Amino acid sequence: MPYTGPTPTREDRFSFGLWTVGYNGADPFGGPTRPALDVVHAVEKLSELGAYGLTFHDDDLFAFESTDAERQTQIDRLKGALESTGLIVPMVTTNLFSAPVFKDGGFTSNDRQVRRFALRKVFRQLDLGAELGAKTFVMWGGREGAEYDSAKDIRQALERYREAVNLLGDYVTDKGYDMRFAIEPKPNEPRGDILLPTLGHAIAFIDSLERPELVGLNPEVGHEQMAGLNYAAGIAQALYHDKLYHLDLNGQRGIKYDQDLVFGHGDLHNAFALVDLLENGAPGGGPTYDGPRHFDYKPSRTEDEQGVWDSAAANMSMYLLLKERAAAFRADPDVQEALAAARVDELSQPTLNEGESYDDFLADRSAYEDFDPSTYFGAKGFGFVRLQQLATEHLMGARG
Ligand code: GCO
Ligand code: MN
Ligand code: MN
Repeated sequence: MPYTGPTPTREDRFSFGLWTVGYNGADPFGGPTRPALDVVHAVEKLSELGAYGLTFHDDDLFAFESTDAERQTQIDRLKGALESTGLIVPMVTTNLFSAPVFKDGGFTSNDRQVRRFALRKVFRQLDLGAELGAKTFVMWGGREGAEYDSAKDIRQALERYREAVNLLGDYVTDKGYDMRFAIEPKPNEPRGDILLPTLGHAIAFIDSLERPELVGLNPEVGHEQMAGLNYAAGIAQALYHDKLYHLDLNGQRGIKYDQDLVFGHGDLHNAFALVDLLENGAPGGGPTYDGPRHFDYKPSRTEDEQGVWDSAAANMSMYLLLKERAAAFRADPDVQEALAAARVDELSQPTLNEGESYDDFLADRSAYEDFDPSTYFGAKGFGFVRLQQLATEHLMGARG
């Protein structure tokens, strides 16, 4: 093992996209720096490193426009590798962004024939996902968007998106597939502006669907942080709405292009808060997350094949180290005392008393008439900074 952190096991439920470790280094400024990675080799290496799952787009496994025979050969090779390693496929997704035909999107292309083709491509991948036992189908609409306001009728684009997702919901229901959909928001890149750019946009969209219970979110660290948003806070809201169906972990340093760094190699404080939330729930109590810990990162194009596997291991290492640090943070009596002093738990108390009507409330003089906002706190603060310092000391391993 290249790192000294805890060793990942299947119980940790770490999964990787085939396109992540398979990234050959090509970017808009230069070609590949690494040879193509074979799926069987990828499955074997990920299994060796302690991952439990592989995810993929149709086009990652078999090239776009493969013949049925070529497609089947690759599926059989994948199946063989899964069987011999015990790895599973928890999630699949469809590539509706690479082929030139999708230059204006798939579900929301202005061209109706392209929309019909995109849907058929998704149906095929749904069938394959069901065959392989995938429980989640991710929809990242990278090309569903526009560069020019007058070129896209957003209202109609959302109608077509809705039509597509409703149809997919009918399909999996009628087929009896045990599969849910997870929408992955992203603000921009490759389109100038992407539809459903944030978790909030996606939650509102999901509410408008015919089968909202079938559709949740696949939030990605970098996508929220590209928009200057707080990922851990977004995940907390996704959990609050019971919509955290899947997630994409990676690292991002500020508002710029989608960096896809190793998890934790960007905003480490936020990664700590995230792992604490996923593993331990909110401090005031609340659901944790028991789905796959899925990494959607890119091994930097400076790395060779060893660097690919080292960086894959680094993702899992970062997660497990943060999990250890978060457990120590929660168990520390100083932290518990600081949480109490900051009155974090008081927020779980309803603002009105049980059964208190607004008439009762209006009659309570202590709430307003006798309340003196200018002297209420006196010289007393909340101590949030102290709490953050304690979190940081735990994060740095400076406390046991
Ligand atoms: C990106 C996205 C993709 C999706 C993938 C799965 O920015 O390119 O994060 O990697 O996650 O297409 O749907
Ligand atoms: Mn991304
Ligand atoms: Mn992603």
